[in-house]
Amino acid sequence: MRYAKLNVVVGLALLVVFMLSGFLLVFLHDTAAGQAIVERIGEENYHLLVVAHTHGNMFALINVIVGLVVSHFGLQGGTVRWASILALLGFLMPVGIFLKVFVGFPPPLILLGDLSMLSAVALLTWAAWRGGSPD
Ligand code: HEM
Repeated sequence: MRYAKLNVVVGLALLVVFMLSGFLLVFLHDTAAGQAIVERIGEENYHLLVVAHTHGNMFALINVIVGLVVSHFGLQGGTVRWASILALLGFLMPVGIFLKVFVGFPPPLILLGDLSMLSAVALLTWAAWRGGSPD
């Protein structure tokens, strides 16, 4: 339960950030200055930024869902704590994409974020199925 609020607050805050990244896409796609940047970084990297935008927004919403499910069902214990932490670590995926595109950071961070989010949702599914009743 301790991390549930963190999932909701960080999720909402990063939803704002990744929605803002949508305006970055508009800039890159629809302005001359933006298109010059896309020419420099390449279409493939632009596509990666779209992937970061979509997954960042989705992972933010998943964090909000994780926090709400944990508090709604009053879930507790190690499995739930790990689900919360791994859901937060999931943001390594979209952040890793931005780092790869703009500073050439190596891709394993992206995979780590992916696996964290996958594990978080699997663990939360298990915890919700096993225990807790709605408030
Ligand atoms: C103010 C907020 C947002 C802005 C300005 C924005 C802007 C954009 C833009 C310009 C694209 C097209 C990129 C391209 O294909 O070249 C895009 C794609 C996309 N956005 Fe957003 N977006 C916003 C919020 C969101 C949110 C909240 C979500 C999901 C919860 C989302 C999900 C997506 C998805 C799934 C695509 C890919 C669509 C496709 O390629 O078929 N966006 N967004």
